[in-house]
Amino acid sequence: MNPTRLLLFVGIFATVVGYSYAQPDPAIEKAVNDVAGEFKAGKDDAARKKAIAAAKNIEELDDLMRLFGPTKKNGLNIGANLMNLPKNPKNVEDLGHKTAAMAELARAMTAPKKKGAQAWIAEADNLRKAGLDLAKAAAKNDAKGMKAAAEKANATCVNCHSKFK
Ligand code: HEC
Repeated sequence: MNPTRLLLFVGIFATVVGYSYAQPDPAIEKAVNDVAGEFKAGKDDAARKKAIAAAKNIEELDDLMRLFGPTKKNGLNIGANLMNLPKNPKNVEDLGHKTAAMAELARAMTAPKKKGAQAWIAEADNLRKAGLDLAKAAAKNDAKGMKAAAEKANATCVNCHSKFK
């Protein structure tokens, strides 16, 4: 292969590999969407059951947490969207359900033992509630309610990280 062709080849290869990695884990993303769908349907019990079943197939907590992060780090941009809510309330509602689903999945994953499961579950429950409150406020197009719920969700990320990360 001549050098130009080689460079082209390497470039294309890197792009393809980069692209395939720059996405959330499809199985975990599906779990988030499935659980979020149950929350949207108001079926909190079904959401919990689905999260418990799906969490068994998630190896590391980090694999789940990554989905909170930015798209370029294989995430769903949830953290950034909570800081800066989408304009369309429909998207905010979706964000709320996804946040609650992520919380339910985190709750279902084995709590880090060293500082106790109780605190872990409490943080996850706080985040789930904030996510559901966000979705409810968005469904009513209640701007104040959306802001308050998003702030609560953000505070939960910070609290849980300061205890467990
Ligand atoms: C129940 C506790 C808990 C809650 C709630 C929580 N986190 Fe985390 N998060 C963790 C822990 C623990 C880690 C470290 C995981 C590891 O490295 O194994 C982590 C890691 C992360 C990471 C790094 C993942 C990576 O490797 O790229 C991101 C991003 C993140 N969290 C975002 C968030 C955001 C945004 C929220 C709130 C919407 C949130 N987290 C809520 C416990 C939590």
